[in-house]
Amino acid sequence: EESKKIVLVEDSSLPKPTRSKIEGLQPLREQRVRVFGWVHRLRQQKEMTFIVLRDGTGFLQCILAGRCAQTYDALILTTESTVELVGTVQPVPEGKTAPGGHELIVDFWRTLGAAPGGDDAFNNRFNEQSDASVLADLRHLTIRGETAAAVLHVRAAVLNAFRTTFVKHSLTEVTPPCMVQTQVEGGSTLFEFDYYGQKAYLTQSSQLYLETCLPSLGDVFCIQESFRAEKSLTRRHLSEYTHLEAELCFITFDDLMTHIENIICETIDVLLSDPRMAELVQMLNPGFKPPKRPFLRMDYRDAIKYLNDHGIQRPDEVTGEIGDHVIGDDIAEAAERQMTDQLNVPIFLNKFPKEIKAFYMKPIPGDPKYTESVDLLMPGVGEIVGGSMRIADMQELLKAYKREGIDPEPYYWFTDQRKYGTCEHGGYGLGVERFLAWLTKRWTVRECSLYPRWMGRATP
Ligand code: 4AD
Repeated sequence: EESKKIVLVEDSSLPKPTRSKIEGLQPLREQRVRVFGWVHRLRQQKEMTFIVLRDGTGFLQCILAGRCAQTYDALILTTESTVELVGTVQPVPEGKTAPGGHELIVDFWRTLGAAPGGDDAFNNRFNEQSDASVLADLRHLTIRGETAAAVLHVRAAVLNAFRTTFVKHSLTEVTPPCMVQTQVEGGSTLFEFDYYGQKAYLTQSSQLYLETCLPSLGDVFCIQESFRAEKSLTRRHLSEYTHLEAELCFITFDDLMTHIENIICETIDVLLSDPRMAELVQMLNPGFKPPKRPFLRMDYRDAIKYLNDHGIQRPDEVTGEIGDHVIGDDIAEAAERQMTDQLNVPIFLNKFPKEIKAFYMKPIPGDPKYTESVDLLMPGVGEIVGGSMRIADMQELLKAYKREGIDPEPYYWFTDQRKYGTCEHGGYGLGVERFLAWLTKRWTVRECSLYPRWMGRATP
C-alpha cells in the first residue's frame, strides 16, 4: 500500500546526466549518466533491487536502493521490461566483479514497457523440453540470449573484417542482383518464381556477375544472399545464406589458393585485434587459435586414396551397399568431415573431376578430365569455400554449355566476357554461416544466421 504512493521525481538539482550506451560508460565513471535498455536479469531483496541491464552494446549492473526500490514499478518489475535509468557509475568494490568493472547506483528510474509476469513471462516461453521447432519459432526471442547475441556480434565484425581485408587487397565491392535468369550451380537447387510472366530464379551465386565486373573495376567482391532449394536437412545447409564471393583477374590457380588463404588469415587477424571480439570468440570457442599458413593442399585423387586407406567408406548410389570410394565420387558430407576432423587442419581439397563440377570450371591443362577447382575444408564443419579458375576461352565455354545441356542464349552477357578481351581469372564463394560455425564452434549454421531458412521453414 505504502509503495503505491512512492513516486520518483528526477532531481534537477543534481549534475545533468550524460546519455550513453553501456559500452561507452568507462570514461563516464563517477559521473551521472542516463541509460536505456532491457532487464536482462533481476534480483529483488527487501530494500534493494539488482538489475542487469542489456542494451545490445553490453551489460550493466544497476543497483536500486531506498526509494528507488520501493515504487510500485519496482515491486512488479519483470525481466525483459524496458527501463530508463539515471544514476552514477561507480567502480565495483574490491573483490566484486561486474560487467565492465563498474555498476550504476541509480537515483531515478522508470519502466518504459512492462513485460508480462506469470505464465506469460519471458522465461516461461522456453523450457527444457522445448523441441527444436518450438525454439525455431521463438528465434525472435532466443536472439536476446547471451550466446545468440554473441554470435551475431561476431558475425557483424567478421563481415567488417572481410571488407577491410578485401579493400586492403584492392578488391572493389559490388552488389549484384538476387533476381536472375541464369543458373550457376545446377538446376536441382534453383528456387524459381514468376517475374512479370517470365521465368526467373533466386540467385545461387553472384559469380557470373562478378566475372563481368573484372574489365570494369578489376578484382571485385560481394557479400550477397544466395538461395539453394536444398532438399535435405543437414547441419550445414540453409535455403538462404550469406555468400561472400570474390573474383580476380590475370591470376593462376596457385595464386587463387594463396589469395584465399591470405584473405581468411588476415580477416581473422583484423577481427581478433579488437579485444571485444577476441573475448567473444574465446567465450564461444574456448582455446581458438588462428590457423597456420600455408594450408594443406590435397589433390582430389589423394583424398580418395586417403579415405580408402583410413577405412572411411561410402554407400553405393544404386545398391546402398557400403564400400570404398572410387575416382569420380562426389565425396559426401560425412566422409569429408571425417577426413577433415582426422587431419584437424584447414585443407585445400583441389582438382576435382570435371563431371562432378560446374560448367564454367577450367580444365587442368594437360589433364583435362580434372579441373582447376578447390574446396576449403575446415575441422568441425567441412567445406566452407568453393572456388575455381574459369574457362577463359569462348569456344571452350560454348562447348561446355552444350555438354551440360545449357541454352547459351540467356548467358550471352557471360559469353561476351570471353569475346571482348578475355583473361585468365578465377574466384570463390565462402559461406558466411559456415565460416562462423567454424570460428565460433557452433553445432549448426542455423545458429549463425539471423533468421535461418531451411527446408520447410521461413518463419519468423
Ligand atoms: O561451392 P559453391 O556452390 O560455389 C559457388 O556457388 C561458386 N559459384 C562460388 C564462386 O566461385 N563465386 O558454394 C560456395 C560456398 C560453399 O563452400 C558453402 O560454404 C556455401 O557457399 N554454401 C552454403 N552454405 C549454406 N547453405 C547452403 N545450402 C550452401 N550451399 C553452398
